[in-house]
Amino acid sequence: MGETRFASLEEACIDKKVIEEAGRIIRNGGLVAFPTETVYGLGGDALQKESSRRIYAAKGRPSDNPLIVHICRWEDIKKIAGKIPPKAEILAKALWPGPLTMILEKTDAVPPETTGGLSTVAVRMPQNKIALALIEAAGGYVAAPSANISGKPSPTLAEHVQEDLGGRIDLILDGGAACIGLESTIVDLTGDKPVILRPGYITKEMLEEILGCPVDVDRMSPDGEKGKAPRAPGMKYRHYAPEGQLTIVSGNETDVTAMICRLVKEKMRAGERTGIICSEETRPLYQADHIEVMGPREDKEAAARHLYAALRRFDSRKIDYIYSEEFSGNGVGMAVMNRLLKAAGHRILQAK
Ligand code: TXA
Ligand code: MG
Repeated sequence: MGETRFASLEEACIDKKVIEEAGRIIRNGGLVAFPTETVYGLGGDALQKESSRRIYAAKGRPSDNPLIVHICRWEDIKKIAGKIPPKAEILAKALWPGPLTMILEKTDAVPPETTGGLSTVAVRMPQNKIALALIEAAGGYVAAPSANISGKPSPTLAEHVQEDLGGRIDLILDGGAACIGLESTIVDLTGDKPVILRPGYITKEMLEEILGCPVDVDRMSPDGEKGKAPRAPGMKYRHYAPEGQLTIVSGNETDVTAMICRLVKEKMRAGERTGIICSEETRPLYQADHIEVMGPREDKEAAARHLYAALRRFDSRKIDYIYSEEFSGNGVGMAVMNRLLKAAGHRILQAK
């Protein structure tokens, strides 16, 4: 493919001409990257198998890793989901449009190319107004994985999309920074008990309160129980990994900061370029070639917003070894730790 066009849009007053053109590209089988409240998505027509094939090719993504179908009206779900359990309707009423993806049984309208051959389909109604307008203009069903090269951190800025997919897709819609910064929470509603397959901004506690029933969290990790496939196929792949080696250091604050300082010093002495991921509170304790501050320690939402851009900056600064403080694992913190662990290939050291 040749050139990738770039168009800037304001969520508050969306240029209809640009959206119509973007919708036409998708209806004709092309690919358009667009902003959502979580991360940027790479959109193609979910009901055309050729579009899904193009998405996999552009991302360099294995085609057994299913795509999320994005819709802009509740009624539209009926065409793609065969059975709509009452829980799906309750969650949609409470949380859509928003950062929640639901797994449901699929209909024949969805080609197997879009769902990686599965009999289920992932559905989400995003909140970003540019995304909603685009989905409508594209015919109502937009398959959109995160708009990064497979394995890299998801894009939270249009520039990240350009970096990864420039020259491989038709158009990038720039709507500014993604306000959440981590991908949607995925909940599987095909069984008796809802199961979170990917933690996100919508937490287990929020889902339990809305549904009035317990919700499980799928504990599968890429190196988890042998021989058992993760229920969200995408979770088995190496993800978000920076080029340098990332290690998480766990323990109480004093031990963690001391250990990170020690490790950084060792690597610096060996002539390696070093990086640190830390909180505002601990920042003054460190020295390294590059330091990324995630925000105040207790502000998990700030960490979510900053993480992916930070991981990309270590690459552009050619950092060899990155050490990260651990983030506490409740609420949105669970989603931050989940992504950080994947980025680190589950390399975690206990500070003492
Ligand atoms: O926030 C988001 O969800 C973003 C934006 C663009 O909407 N999209 C996104 O898509 O993160 P992607 O393709 O990067 O991640 C989709 C995840 C993968 O881990 C995939 O395996 C899982 O959803 N998934 C998709 N369909 C599934 C299905 N039918 N059953 C289980 N997991 C599924
Ligand atoms: Mg992704």
